[in-house]
Amino acid sequence: HPAVTADPQKGLMVGSVALSTLAEEVGTPCWVINAETLRLRAQLMQQAFTDASLPVTCHFAVKSQDNQACLTVLGQAGWGADVVSGGELERALAAGIPADKIVFSGVGKTDDELKLAITHDIAQVNVESAEELHRLNGLAQQMERTIRVSLRVNPDVDAKTHSKITTGRAEDKFGIAYTDIPSLYRTAQRDMQGLNVRGLAVHLGSQISTEEPFRQGYTQLAKMVTTLRQDGLSVEDIDCGGGLGITYRNEIAPAPAMLAQVMADIFGALDVNLRVEPGRWLSAPAGVLLSRVIDTKQGTHQFVILDAAMSELVRPAMYDSWHGILPVHLPDAEAATSPVDVVGPVCESSDTFAKQRMLPPLKRNDLVAILDAGAYGSTMSSTYNSRPFAAQIMVDGDQWAVIRPRQTLEDLLACEKTPHWFTQGA
Ligand code: LLP
Repeated sequence: HPAVTADPQKGLMVGSVALSTLAEEVGTPCWVINAETLRLRAQLMQQAFTDASLPVTCHFAVKSQDNQACLTVLGQAGWGADVVSGGELERALAAGIPADKIVFSGVGKTDDELKLAITHDIAQVNVESAEELHRLNGLAQQMERTIRVSLRVNPDVDAKTHSKITTGRAEDKFGIAYTDIPSLYRTAQRDMQGLNVRGLAVHLGSQISTEEPFRQGYTQLAKMVTTLRQDGLSVEDIDCGGGLGITYRNEIAPAPAMLAQVMADIFGALDVNLRVEPGRWLSAPAGVLLSRVIDTKQGTHQFVILDAAMSELVRPAMYDSWHGILPVHLPDAEAATSPVDVVGPVCESSDTFAKQRMLPPLKRNDLVAILDAGAYGSTMSSTYNSRPFAAQIMVDGDQWAVIRPRQTLEDLLACEKTPHWFTQGA
């Protein structure tokens, strides 16, 4: 269920809207999100759990795609949210996702963020350290409230993905060391009056493309459930995190059915409520970054210089990620491809979307679509080089709308202030 299809006359389409039309109307660079793709993928994943007869609550990882329109689509599809900041919590609520479907993860939550979670009585806070557990208990007691929590376990499993997005190894900053869990869980459940300790959580990493890390991590978690129960403690909830990978290039992407099967094998007999927190699997294939060729340049390499940059999509610069790049106007069948470096205009060599990519001839003003950009694209954007945030568009069948207008330079400058002593008397 990719976001784009190809029409022999109109070129690349999202739903029944031509990307060239959107470029004309809204300008480039811009993000185009296919609501239908988001909706379908949300249904597919939920269905995989239903087929496996698993009681799973699905929480969308807001960090992957946080636009209000996207959260609304997913909320209407019955999904909850996984948030990692007070800002994301407010966003999820603003999009109509009910508090009792929101889980709050993250290694550093401020007092204000924890209080916000308590005030809204969200589904649960995934606590990442003994220190945070004590702090949250104190805050809840001060507020004369209780809050549901799960302890995020660091299972010491290597997710075998890019090291910058691996989170479950012992040396990673995330979660509570496996061997510290039993005593901390006991203290929390027996003695901490502000907390309602529900269970355990884990997140192994992102873009995981084999089942083995899931199997290893979840097995560790299941063993811990048994240990805790033998100690007379109750464990009712397991949050399995996110991390399911997609096919960017030629990876064999595991299907949600695989994840459901692993979860059924490992947790099926434990009588627990299950949660998942996927982001990328839903949102990445739903979005493209639409860009225009500013110019071409012949050096030792042939360069195609786009009006999109690392300020929009930082993944290639940050993780050497591969994204498909397609010309929006379909090339002649006979057109030969040749190797080109596809780059942005930002003053960093890392502002390179692809090196030596085989592409049909591209010339000034041609449009290209950078694929699978719906996750960790707009949410990781910056305004580096004074490049205002790009517009976002949602397409739903034959309808489309701007869901975030392009930021203007006035918007950017309006946020800044020169101290009064420079301007006095001016
Ligand atoms: N839950 C937690 C606690 C997480 O930290 C993450 C992602 C997710 C869920 C969602 O993971 P997903 O299903 O999307 O893999 N910027 C990187 C990815 C960073 C992922 C961080 N945590 C990238 O562009 O590849």
